Amino acid sequence: MENNNNKENETKQDEEQTQVINPWQVSSKGKIDYDKLIDQFGCQRLDQSFVDRVHRLTNRSPHIFLRRNVFFAHRDFNEILDGYERGEKFYLYTGRGPSSEALHLGHLVPFMFTKYLQDAFKVPLVIQLTDDEKCMWKSLTVEESKRLARENAKDIIACGFDVSRTFIFSDFDYVGGAFYENMVKVAKCVTYNKVVGIFGFTGEDHIGKISFPPVQAVPSFPSSFPHLFSGKDKLRCLIPCAIDQDPYFRMTRDVAPRLGYNKPALIESLFFPALQGETGKMSASDANSAIYVTDTQKAIKEKVNKYAFSGGQDSIENHRKYGANLEVDIPFKYLSFFLEDDEELEHIRKEYGSGRMLTGEVKKRLIDVLTEMVERHRAARAAVTDEMVDAFMAVRPLPNMFA
Ligand code: TRP
Repeated sequence: MENNNNKENETKQDEEQTQVINPWQVSSKGKIDYDKLIDQFGCQRLDQSFVDRVHRLTNRSPHIFLRRNVFFAHRDFNEILDGYERGEKFYLYTGRGPSSEALHLGHLVPFMFTKYLQDAFKVPLVIQLTDDEKCMWKSLTVEESKRLARENAKDIIACGFDVSRTFIFSDFDYVGGAFYENMVKVAKCVTYNKVVGIFGFTGEDHIGKISFPPVQAVPSFPSSFPHLFSGKDKLRCLIPCAIDQDPYFRMTRDVAPRLGYNKPALIESLFFPALQGETGKMSASDANSAIYVTDTQKAIKEKVNKYAFSGGQDSIENHRKYGANLEVDIPFKYLSFFLEDDEELEHIRKEYGSGRMLTGEVKKRLIDVLTEMVERHRAARAAVTDEMVDAFMAVRPLPNMFA
């Protein structure tokens, strides 16, 4: 069993610590301490050597999220790359819990990155829409969860996935058959104590929550998709996700060898910070904490100007003297996620950090960058038809998925 100590210490640490991070809650008193999180979860830091290796293996410039360390942690990503170097392909698995109509920019991060991985490595991808999960956790009806799953599928498709390599499924529609068989196998390996240790469930939680983790676990196993991977039981799985999903896959990796399956590998991102500052991930329920893909240019401008936490000084004199604190500055953080041009970002880092550039100028640049992104997404989403959603969600073989 991996990281047994880490897991057993988890509850104790949770009591002492100021940050609580699990799939349902991301909160911290100050800045999130990602080094501590890596230690606590027992994953590895993704260092520059990985970025260089991906560059070499894929023959294309690494994605901005890799270059900028947005994806900063991993489990066994080196093994995926070793295999790839030997000519062994893998498949990608990611997902979304459809809890809201409109996605915010943070929701797009894993999908933008997954799209790049799919293109760069030319591999198949499965995307799980956990409509069942959100129905159990939020006060959503089955019908409403299913509707949101389909709406969210449109935003996901708008990220540019290749239909000849991508299978999107909703749990309510797809769970059954070989997928369900794997769920039962996983469930038999996980005790109640274990699931409480990993996820912090209490006796007051309904049994739907306690029984859910196998649903998110089994897309990690190729045999859950007979129409795609029949006879490819050894195909490795790579999961791009935000690091709050790690507990699910710690559990999955723990049971995999007992079922004779490969452990899935992971590549994990930071949280995309709220406009108000970096103490948690953005909340879909506080409209002013995030930029949504449905926001108008005017709304983007207002939100950035009004709410984006500034690391600039309180007077121009002090700002010129001391410069901005880039560690806490949200406009700069957002630019480091989305401003492609490395040189321009470096320029802003120097000029803003030394006080020669003012917050207003940085915010203006950010508004332009975000407006363009949101516009692009809006156009792409408008072009997604119901037929396209059906095509992505059809249970079908993908004959050219590795081509
Ligand atoms: N639980 C995730 C959420 O609430 C959805 C999800 C399912 C997921 N499978 C995944 C996310 C795999 C990342 C990777 O958003």
